[in-house]
Amino acid sequence: MLILGIETSCDETAAALVADGKTILSSVIAAQLDLLRKYGGVVPEVAARRHTELIGYVIQEALDKAGKHLADIEAVAVTAWQGLVGCLLVGVAAAKSLSYTQGVPLVGVHHIEGHIYANRLSHPEMPLPHVCLTVSGGHTMLLYVGGDGKYELLGTTLDDAAGEAFDKIAKFLGLGFPGGPVIDKLAGEGNRRAFAFPRPMLRAASYDFSFSGLKTAVINMFKEKVARGEALPLADIAASFQEAVAEVLVSKTLRAAAERGVTTVSVTGGVSANSRLRAAFEEACRRRGFKVFFPDLSLCTDNAAMIAAAGYAKIERGEISGLLLTALPNAPLPGQAGGIV
Ligand code: KG4
Ligand code: ZN
Repeated sequence: MLILGIETSCDETAAALVADGKTILSSVIAAQLDLLRKYGGVVPEVAARRHTELIGYVIQEALDKAGKHLADIEAVAVTAWQGLVGCLLVGVAAAKSLSYTQGVPLVGVHHIEGHIYANRLSHPEMPLPHVCLTVSGGHTMLLYVGGDGKYELLGTTLDDAAGEAFDKIAKFLGLGFPGGPVIDKLAGEGNRRAFAFPRPMLRAASYDFSFSGLKTAVINMFKEKVARGEALPLADIAASFQEAVAEVLVSKTLRAAAERGVTTVSVTGGVSANSRLRAAFEEACRRRGFKVFFPDLSLCTDNAAMIAAAGYAKIERGEISGLLLTALPNAPLPGQAGGIV
């Protein structure tokens, strides 16, 4: 089955063609980097307007790259839940029109379920059940994935998402946007033991996270150094901050896996591209006899291939949405109280 995936939940306008939920024929992503640099972050209304300008071209390019025509599409999957509502609406409207005019099924996908399927796309052999950590610019979620489409929320962030902390610190340090890749690169030249930043909620009984205090600690340390006229060891700051984030994420995820009796860990979302986080997970999982999976780098950040893959699984489960599909900025994952299907 050939599925057109559409993703517009934040600042990437993306379309992809995926066959049978497994084979990516094309994946096109137009990132609004010029706007991000101009405004220092995502401005929801501006991002939504840019989606309306780009969506038609992006879908056409996805078709061209795959050597397909609109008439070849057998279903349309779109991110409908979780994200900036104005942005989501653009993708949902485009998907509805295509579903209606082509006479093919329409399936709404929860953005986080899309990230989960990014790892299934990269590693079809990844076993179930497992524990999945989704870490991105908008989310930090620890889930128990009991089966296909069966999610149980174990913990989430109480304030900033992990990627948001990377972005805000990079912005404060004048390193640019998005902050994750810049900090990751800079940290490669730094000493991760140079500064002992706090490890928020590391020892808390719950699986929730908090990154706002860590972000403030980094920013305050930077301000103090500026006030004292001291040298600014940016690479050491970046490496030490990244280490604090990695330690908390790895420790809580592995504790959850052990408590739930699973030995497979899936890490997804933009921050799962982080080189230190990957190394720390690999190292800790090797010691514990666990297996950890990360998506291919091209599937870590927002893309439409993961939405098409999640959409295919939903179609297989009989979860078709129809033209009454509505975009929702906040929606629990399927399987949660009030969860969306
Ligand atoms: O998944 P994503 O594209 O969007 C959301 O769903 O939010 O994730 C974007 C986030 C940004 O915060 C970005 O800074 C972060 O992922 N990111 C990284 C890296 N690459 C992207 N964070 C840390 N290290 C990276 N290498
Ligand atoms: Zn995302």
